[in-house]
Amino acid sequence: MNKSDVLNIFSENYAKEYNERFLLEPFSKVSSDFELSVLKELISSESKWLDVGCGTGYFLSHFPNIKRAGFDISPFMLEEAKRANPDAIFLEEGDCRNEYPEWNEQWTLVSCIWQPYTYFDSFSEFEILIDNMINWLSVGGDLFIPILDMEDIRFGQIVTYEEQVDKIYSGIVQVNGFIWTWIEEATNNKHYCGIAPHTEHVIRLLSPFFETVELLRYPPYYEGWVSRKAVLAKSKTSKNETQQAQVIRHPVPPPFHKDSEEKTLLTTSEQFITDRQLIGELFRRVKSGRLFRSILKKIINR
Ligand SMILES: C[S@@+](CC[C@H](N)C(=O)[O-])C[C@H]1O[C@@H](n2cnc3c(N)ncnc32)[C@H](O)[C@@H]1O
Repeated sequence: MNKSDVLNIFSENYAKEYNERFLLEPFSKVSSDFELSVLKELISSESKWLDVGCGTGYFLSHFPNIKRAGFDISPFMLEEAKRANPDAIFLEEGDCRNEYPEWNEQWTLVSCIWQPYTYFDSFSEFEILIDNMINWLSVGGDLFIPILDMEDIRFGQIVTYEEQVDKIYSGIVQVNGFIWTWIEEATNNKHYCGIAPHTEHVIRLLSPFFETVELLRYPPYYEGWVSRKAVLAKSKTSKNETQQAQVIRHPVPPPFHKDSEEKTLLTTSEQFITDRQLIGELFRRVKSGRLFRSILKKIINR
């Protein structure tokens, strides 16, 4: 997507509602809490942390006494981030496809959470992001990148990353990622042709530059539901294409909700939320004019 389309999505109103709508909504909060727990393990008083595409600075704001900085393409998201992190080293506008050589080797932790890469124009830009993140890390530093996997988009569908094909057009065939679109019902925003890498491809890209690369698994919301994935590359080594990290694949943890019977009772997203959150959402929609716009649209479309 081009920059103006991205800014149309991550607008002033969207930025104000972002944390509540996404990170704190009960289903997603299981993921954001898991991400916070991973960050807590990685961060010490010695850390210097750069959060790429930091959005509203929600994750940064949980570590107030740590040297930390973030950047994002949306000035509206950054306004929220600045409010939440008044003591950050910097929170500035930037595009994670740019190199910013002045940041090279400056950070002990570099993260990119909740898929800013979705909004890239091409898959090769994802590889540029990975190169940049590696360059920004100091030797010994850690890189944390949650992955939007095919399984998350098409419940439980697992696509093999690499296969040796021996018939006719023989050779190695890889599925490096996929492209997807989300048309938001609440705002009618079109997150068009988003980029999503295959998790194994991310592991492959990072392996030459770290001692270990871990595939982390999130707790599924219910038994049998998808366990999301994140890649944690630990202890950057000096660049050496010939070495490969030890890859550690963690097992899927127990589900967040132990009571599987609850699952059958909850079938729509509205039923996941409490009355207080429902009233809050109604209030936000009335305030932002979204409710009236969608009523008007329904009448016009009749
Ligand atoms: C879904 S939000 C995630 C925000 C934050 N990382 C979080 O976890 O809450 C995606 C963010 O990526 C930002 N973004 C999109 N393209 C970007 C780019 N090329 N460079 C930097 N930020 C970008 C958007 O403005 C938005 O704030």
